[in-house]
Amino acid sequence: DWTMHDFCQSAIAAIRKKVGSGKVLLALSGGVDSSVAAALLAEAVGNQLTCVFVDHGLLRLHEGDEVEAAFSKWNLHFRRVNAETRFLGKLTGVEEPEQKRKIVGEEFIRVFEEEAKKIGAVDFLAQGTIYPDVIESGTGEAATIKSHHNVGGLPDYVDFKEILEPLRMLFKDEVRQLGRELGLPEYLVSRQPFPGPGLAIRIIGDVTKEKADILRLADFIFRDELSKSREAQNLSQFFAVLTNTRSVGVMGDGRTYDHTLALRAVTTDDFMTADWARIPYDILDCISTRIVNEVPGVNRIVYDITSKPPATIEWE
Ligand code: XMP
Repeated sequence: DWTMHDFCQSAIAAIRKKVGSGKVLLALSGGVDSSVAAALLAEAVGNQLTCVFVDHGLLRLHEGDEVEAAFSKWNLHFRRVNAETRFLGKLTGVEEPEQKRKIVGEEFIRVFEEEAKKIGAVDFLAQGTIYPDVIESGTGEAATIKSHHNVGGLPDYVDFKEILEPLRMLFKDEVRQLGRELGLPEYLVSRQPFPGPGLAIRIIGDVTKEKADILRLADFIFRDELSKSREAQNLSQFFAVLTNTRSVGVMGDGRTYDHTLALRAVTTDDFMTADWARIPYDILDCISTRIVNEVPGVNRIVYDITSKPPATIEWE
């Protein structure tokens, strides 16, 4: 009978055979798929592999450092490119959701290309493409509703001899199993989906560093409280959104005019449809109090009670 251990061993053998003594380059987002692809390739061709991790400055709190910490332990060449200024510069004044997605996707490819040139003589481009990506590409709902940007979905890359997609036969839960088999830390393996454009599409309206910092902190508190209360295990995905609304509040004996933050939490099997999660009121109350007290610039919290459809999971 088929086990993940067997799959892992035969995948490693197949990669070794295909790659030979060639050089492999992988775009690493820190998401589950590209992390597992990195671990598998490292096991197969360790020293011949370079992982390029583009930190676009729109990641969650501590995320860049967590990815770096996890991968600096592996037998592979790891390059982190800190490109916050560059991405935020490109996004200045841009409010339209699709435009933001396009800008982040294109800039990502440019940064990646530059790194590839620096490394030089790359034979294979590796991608964390998984089976649902293969089925969905082109015809999926995602293609028409939103242009999904995925680091696993870099476009045809003329300079490379060949594309390696070692996960293309696996479903998400199998990818997670493989990650565990390879010894990836649980916080990487059990990570919830995170969109390629990152916080750029969770900040409604124009994106600034100040807004990204506010959102990062509020989002961290939301996730922290849900994990502590164990409510997190009932949820498929949860995050905060910085709306582009300000409202009047009162703090001490002063007037405030600050950001409205939205909390989003859903349950779903396949992310194609989703229900808004019935988080207990006392947990929501605790989260609201903490965020308003600990995050300067936020004076009002709302909870998103729309399912998908008619809403989508992300706001943009
Ligand atoms: P929506 O908002 O379309 O999201 O209901 C469905 C799922 O997809 C994730 N998502 C993305 N994932 N690149 C990704 O890799 C993207 O550009 C992207 N946009 C949305 C979203 O977080 C949810 O899990």
